[in-house]
Order: sequence, then C-alpha cells, then structure tokens
Amino acid sequence: MDNLELLKMAEEAKEYAHAPYSKFKVGAALLTTSGKVYTGCNIECASFGGTNCAERTAVFKAVSEGERSFEKIAVASSNEEETFPCGICRQVMAEFGKDLIVVLGDTKKGIVREYVLSKDLLPHSFTGEDF
Ligand code: THU
Repeated sequence: MDNLELLKMAEEAKEYAHAPYSKFKVGAALLTTSGKVYTGCNIECASFGGTNCAERTAVFKAVSEGERSFEKIAVASSNEEETFPCGICRQVMAEFGKDLIVVLGDTKKGIVREYVLSKDLLPHSFTGEDF
C-alpha cells in the first residue's frame, strides 16, 4: 500500500474522532508487515488525562489483536498540514520497532511526507534493551 492511500485512510479515520474539548480531530492508519491496516482516532475524556491519541488507538487496536510488526503509520488531523506525533505516541510506536515509517500530510493539498521514527522523530530512545 502506498503512502497516499494510507494517508487517505487516516483522513477517513479522523472523522470518527471524539474531540469535544480540543475540537482537534486526528486520525491514524497503521500498516502491519503482513499487509493489514488498523485505523484509530483521538478519543478525549472529560477527565483530560484519559484522552488517547489517534496513533495509540491504532497501535493498541492492532496489538490487542495479536499484531506486533508494523511497516508504517499515517497520521492526519484537522490542521491541514503535518501533525507530528506527540512524545508519548513516539515512545509507544518505538516499543514495536524503531524503523517504523511515519507518513504525514494532507492529500487535498498534495502533501505526503515520510519520516523514519528512529532517525527523525525519536533518536536516542529509551527501549526495553536499556535495562
Ligand atoms: N492528538 C493526537 O491524537 N495525536 C497527536 O499526535 C497529537 C495530539 C490529540 C490528543 C487530543 O485529543 C488533541 O489531539 C489535542 O491535543
């Protein structure tokens, strides 16, 4: 699956966001190495700490169904440019592979960019091998 297609799936997933507080909708589409796609959206909570980002929703859905190996994740938001994953999401994604490709952009604007998690977004990360 190409980056544009995956980003479109993230844009579609964004529409399911539960974001009544920030009004900032985010969608993610996570491609496994076996070729399946798990989507996610942000889910906010009146007790703000209960909020879950779109990226983690997608990762947790996939992991809870037995997936452990991922190729790339696309992220789209109501900000029509790139929305970089937050620090917690970067750490959670790194848990399952530091070479994950992160695809960001906006298909309507023709912006589709890719980043490598370990190199561009979370260098020198703390991992399970550090203790
Ligand atoms: N959010 C995400 O879903 N992913 C990110 O990478 C950044 C932030 C959500 C969390 C919250 O619902 C809203 O965006 C504002 O922070």
